[in-house]
Amino acid sequence: LASAPPLALAEKYFQLRPDELNPLWGNPCDDVRHRRIWSKSKWCGTLPRVLVIGPQKTGSTALYTFLGMHPSLVSNLPSPATYEELQFFNNNNYLKGLDWYLNFFPPSLGNTSQITFEKSATYFDGDLVPRRAHALLPNAKIVTILISPSKRAYSWYQHIRSHGDPVANNYTFYTVISANDSAPKPLRDLRNRCLNPGKYSHYLERWLAEFSGHQLHVMDGSLLRSDPVSAMNALQKFLKLPHVDYNKLLKYDAKKGFYCQMVSNDRTKCLGKSKGRVYPPMDELSAKFLRRYYTPHNTALSKLLVRLGRPVPQWLKDELSADG
Ligand code: A3P
Repeated sequence: LASAPPLALAEKYFQLRPDELNPLWGNPCDDVRHRRIWSKSKWCGTLPRVLVIGPQKTGSTALYTFLGMHPSLVSNLPSPATYEELQFFNNNNYLKGLDWYLNFFPPSLGNTSQITFEKSATYFDGDLVPRRAHALLPNAKIVTILISPSKRAYSWYQHIRSHGDPVANNYTFYTVISANDSAPKPLRDLRNRCLNPGKYSHYLERWLAEFSGHQLHVMDGSLLRSDPVSAMNALQKFLKLPHVDYNKLLKYDAKKGFYCQMVSNDRTKCLGKSKGRVYPPMDELSAKFLRRYYTPHNTALSKLLVRLGRPVPQWLKDELSADG
């Protein structure tokens, strides 16, 4: 019996098993032998039980903030690079390993009825995310927020524009969304980032290939905006949390034009300037283009929601009944 030095052995192993080159972190709490050799400072309750997956520009920061007000929920600590979003499952952070991820969660919770949650809005449309998330957190509850995909696309364009992106600043919204495949690459890239996440049913099917429908909550993002108390009530019920009256925590702020955290009877704390931006309404040509573009995706989403026994949000009914 002969053996090679460790490095050569590893090289040989991965030549034989190239499918194992990319790690897939399993849950150390699922196997008593793994638990036994796991660091003493780690604890199974540290793992998040709720993932808010986005997509981006649907109100995910508002939801993250509102969830953080619930006494039964504890969010991850902020990351110096990506702020409140850890973006673990969707990019190279995943390769930093499980300890890297878990170090962002409180090692023990003061109150045992508390559960941890994480929100990264890029999880929704990340290729590898559903599989990776399921391997680590097979029992997690998954929360997605959906608004009109046309509004989402426009909000993303405005977001990128306000960050000084030259493409978004040099091309109108209509030019971006209607760019064809022979357009310059930066324009096509921006078009894709505006349009693709709004193909909701496509991405949700990928999540549903890993997680059961009972684990998925679809929040109506326009309800979260106009009546966050109702939206949060439905979510609390889904997460089986002790009921908290968000009427006492949130208040409409006329200056901001959104619901904000109530700090005292006459003071509110709203999200920053980058959330709830002021910009001109979408032009008619773009609205018409997007209505047509999203019709097959919205039809598929409506069928998916019916299949899951979930209500079809008003914005989706409106988009499907609009005269394209
Ligand atoms: P706009 O800035 O385009 O209006 P995300 O946090 O996922 O990036 O989403 C940002 C969007 O959240 C904002 O897009 C805004 O419309 C929406 N939103 C919903 N509720 C909000 C709230 N209470 N405060 C601020 N923005 C809110």
